[in-house]
Amino acid sequence: MVNDRKVAIVGCGFVGSSSAFALMQSGLFSEMVLIDVDRARAEGEALDIAHGVPFANPCKIYAGDYADAADAAIIVVTAGAAQKPGETRLDLVNKNVGIFKSIIPQIRESGFEGVLLVVSNPVDVLTYAAIKMSGLPEGKVIGSGTVLDTARLKYMLGEHLEVDPRDVHAYIMGEHGDSEFAAWSSAMVAGVPLNTFCEMHGHHDHKATEARIAEEVKNSAYEIIAKKHATYYGIAMSVRRICTAIMHDEDTVLPVSSLMVGEYGLNDIAISMPTIVGRGGVVCRVPVSLSDDEMAELKESASALKAIIDQVDFEA
Ligand SMILES: NC(=O)c1ccc[n+]([C@@H]2O[C@H](COP(=O)([O-])OP(=O)(O)OC[C@H]3O[C@@H](n4cnc5c(N)ncnc54)[C@H](O)[C@@H]3O)[C@@H](O)[C@H]2O)c1
Repeated sequence: MVNDRKVAIVGCGFVGSSSAFALMQSGLFSEMVLIDVDRARAEGEALDIAHGVPFANPCKIYAGDYADAADAAIIVVTAGAAQKPGETRLDLVNKNVGIFKSIIPQIRESGFEGVLLVVSNPVDVLTYAAIKMSGLPEGKVIGSGTVLDTARLKYMLGEHLEVDPRDVHAYIMGEHGDSEFAAWSSAMVAGVPLNTFCEMHGHHDHKATEARIAEEVKNSAYEIIAKKHATYYGIAMSVRRICTAIMHDEDTVLPVSSLMVGEYGLNDIAISMPTIVGRGGVVCRVPVSLSDDEMAELKESASALKAIIDQVDFEA
């Protein structure tokens, strides 16, 4: 039986603890299990975060094990080695697939039936790994994908256009990483095509600005890691947003990573595209129309991921 008020987080480093902190404040859950190979770390984070509960919502927060997570509605996996300065996300692949081989089978053996949210990097490869190893229906395994990158895009466009980023509808698609791209041709502000909105605000140099902003989005993680060694607040809010869409059965469109089954001609890889997310995880994917250039970028991104996946042994 799934306990609709329970969440578990595996990996209590920067990303796991920040996500736990954000989820504690969300009021979505009344029970939160923190799991880490470093048990003391999980215990310390549980205590620290629990001491904020009197200022937020009642929630039992404790360090636990996979048996405690078996009936959770969502398990968020953030365990893994973090990206080092100068290291690409894809460099991390073998290290973190190895870590997943020690985590996902334990989740499977616990009888977990909820939604598995993968955050560890490289998130698309690890989402694929979790689909292969967990035995869960593919729609119940979601990667945070380009939800964070899309938030960065909306934030930067909001700054540039002096408009609330929540009124910007634009997506980063593809790999969460170096081959991601902005789907500019479908970008809108309050239903107005982005270029028209820009003209209204006196911005005319569209191509150069798009290229600059897309590069800044792509390099955000590298810049933050160079300056403070890790990124965690933006992703924590992304985790909270995805968990809210699931627990409130919102049918919200989010660019999560999930298994492609023929969309844009792609199969047998996990990659990000706008996706309707509800109580059961993926409801369906929304194949927004792409320009020829964007389609080429998506294919390139998918090929880059496929080349990695083909080299990895996913046998748990
Ligand atoms: N998807 C995104 O947008 C996004 C954004 C930021 C970071 N990340 C990724 O999140 C991951 C975590 O980053 P971080 O900064 O929190 O790293 P971190 O080193 O601070 O934390 C990782 C935690 O995982 C734990 N861990 C390692 N192996 C484990 C295992 N087998 N079982 C349980 N716990 C285990 C470690 O003890 C540690 O506490 C990285 O892969 C990072 O690249 C993803």
